[in-house]
Amino acid sequence: MNMLVIGSGAREHIIAKTLSRNADVYTYMSKKNPGLIDVSIDYMVGSESDFDAIVSYAKDNDIEIAFIGPEAPLEGGIVDQLNDNGISCVGPTKKAAQIETNKAFMRQLFVDYDIEGSIKYGTFYDLDEAYEFIDELDEPVVVKPIGLTGGKGVKIVGDQLESNEEAKEYVKEIFDEKMSGYEGVVLEELLVGEEYTIQAFVDGEHIIPMPAAQDHPHAFEGNIGPITGGMGSYSSKDHLLPFLTKDDYDASVSIMKKTIDAIAQEEEPYKGILYGQFMLCKDGPKVIEYNARFGDPEAMNVLSLLDSNLANISKQIVDGTLDTVVFKRKSSVCKYIVPDNYPNTEANDTIVEVDEEKINDDGADVYYAAVYLDDNNDIRLTSSRAIAVIAEDDTINQAEEVCEEAIKNINGEVYHRSDVATEKLIDEKIQHMKEVKGE
Ligand code: GLY
Repeated sequence: MNMLVIGSGAREHIIAKTLSRNADVYTYMSKKNPGLIDVSIDYMVGSESDFDAIVSYAKDNDIEIAFIGPEAPLEGGIVDQLNDNGISCVGPTKKAAQIETNKAFMRQLFVDYDIEGSIKYGTFYDLDEAYEFIDELDEPVVVKPIGLTGGKGVKIVGDQLESNEEAKEYVKEIFDEKMSGYEGVVLEELLVGEEYTIQAFVDGEHIIPMPAAQDHPHAFEGNIGPITGGMGSYSSKDHLLPFLTKDDYDASVSIMKKTIDAIAQEEEPYKGILYGQFMLCKDGPKVIEYNARFGDPEAMNVLSLLDSNLANISKQIVDGTLDTVVFKRKSSVCKYIVPDNYPNTEANDTIVEVDEEKINDDGADVYYAAVYLDDNNDIRLTSSRAIAVIAEDDTINQAEEVCEEAIKNINGEVYHRSDVATEKLIDEKIQHMKEVKGE
């Protein structure tokens, strides 16, 4: 089967590599990602928003199924356009993708379909009413532009914002700039607990959840510094997390299933990957947000453990016949190597040296993100996360040690968070969860 992967990062690299075990993989990327090129039969470099070019590349190569990596093409309706041209997709249609691309839609769905895990929130298109909500909330507020902002739009009092008064200024900025295309905002109560991710395969009706993972969004050691796309993540061999029980996991999956049913009723059946970002609170799991795609870095955790055939799963997703999916009973740790100046957006553009053979010998794998091959076939950094290193082992500890050892084989103007998935950091999380639950 010919399959097309759309996207340019480490998430797409691991999707393509996993598919390539059982399918002929073609890729459409915005820059020359060395990892994607390595696993592809053929590739095309072009803008990920040029849907006509994507469709014509897919048709030229007899693509049966396209797998969409990032959210922006989903928002633009790439799936609708590919479907119209006879190409099936792992990824939701524009309407179904609203679960990620329209935060007002997502929150309203929880209310209309009485789904557990909802929170105190409001959607506002009137500035004074937004201010009134913040005053009445009288506790730290979370401000979310309604549409996509490339991960830069959500601001939290106590994190990027000092106070609810500063939150009001940010709300005004969102209205004035029509940020993310809306003169409106979603305001939410701040949830207290531990965040975690559950991703699921979805075929419109059935969902098959994957092992839970926990990301580390803060740039610097000790969970401080600006929020990034994610500096590293881990998963545990029981497919839960050290602070997440089976009951919590099942409750989260049940919320995801009800969400899928609600999207099908409200809009259209959802086919693809659903990413649930949850907060485990005192009174159970609450949804922070959904993404309509694999998480990055969490895709590395789950796809490294996948023991089933991803090409078959993709076929089942498009046919609505999802069956059993098997994940290895192993723990995994992924750490991102980033340019020295990250998350500053100034391009670094220096060469990074990666000894893939030694990394593999150490028992880890490497996936390329925001880097590109130059004309001399050297790998160069850009301004964003560069390389993901993933290791799997019996325990999180062992996987973490393997990951750290492997990272020594990457040299350049880069850094990574050495504390991701360490025993100390995980103990802190377990302790924090106990405090939240009052144990
Ligand atoms: N890890 C966060 C995301 O994929 O959006």
